[in-house]
Amino acid sequence: MGDYNNFAEIYRKKTFELEAKSRKHFYSLLPFNLKNSKILDIGCGSGQDAVYYNRIGAKVFGIDISEKEIEMAENLKVGIFSVGDMNKLPFNDSCFDQVTSFYALQASQNVERTIIEMIRVVKKGGFILIQTKHPFRTIIEGWKNNNKLNYYTSSNVTSRILKNSVILDEPSHTIMDYLSKEILNQAELILLEEHSDFPASEEIIKGLIYPTYMILKFRKK
Ligand SMILES: C[S@@+](CC[C@H](N)C(=O)[O-])C[C@H]1O[C@@H](n2cnc3c(N)ncnc32)[C@H](O)[C@@H]1O
Repeated sequence: MGDYNNFAEIYRKKTFELEAKSRKHFYSLLPFNLKNSKILDIGCGSGQDAVYYNRIGAKVFGIDISEKEIEMAENLKVGIFSVGDMNKLPFNDSCFDQVTSFYALQASQNVERTIIEMIRVVKKGGFILIQTKHPFRTIIEGWKNNNKLNYYTSSNVTSRILKNSVILDEPSHTIMDYLSKEILNQAELILLEEHSDFPASEEIIKGLIYPTYMILKFRKK
């Protein structure tokens, strides 16, 4: 598993530069006016997105499994942050206007469960906006780095990100995990986008252009 306690500082420093463009696009997919709305950010890390949500007037909550990341987020004084697991959110049903997650769901041991949890805590009609590692990238990295030969079976895959400054072992997921019947029973899929973010993600096969991350936007039914 990737232990973000060990590379929280380097992650914040490198992503500031390498993910600036994709974060800007991610924010553009949120509802226009978020003043006074309650936003929960899952896998919030050191609070980079919380800074933006706070700036546009939202009341921000963040949760992350890493104590170090939460300590860094708390120092920013832009919201309420807690250490916790994305698969068991310590919040009541339907208490947030929006729920977001930027590049964290790939770390979940059970993506379907995480999304069901995100749906549980958002209000009816509220949005769930997710940026996460694309499963095509996972199979390509797994094949090269871990001799992974089966897309459908779950196993840990090694990723070298942010110009090799961070090395992670994270579970593999399929697109079906993110769009299961249970998820689609509870929320409507509004948007699915696929993008590439080389060199933030390693170019495994030189010249092969493939999606490295995807964006999913759901609305709770
Ligand atoms: C790639 S970082 C992204 C952090 C932040 N969203 C950002 O963009 O700066 C992934 C984050 O997910 C967190 N994470 C991993 N597994 C988690 C879990 N089970 N529950 C909550 N957070 C988790 C990590 O600690 C890490 O901070």
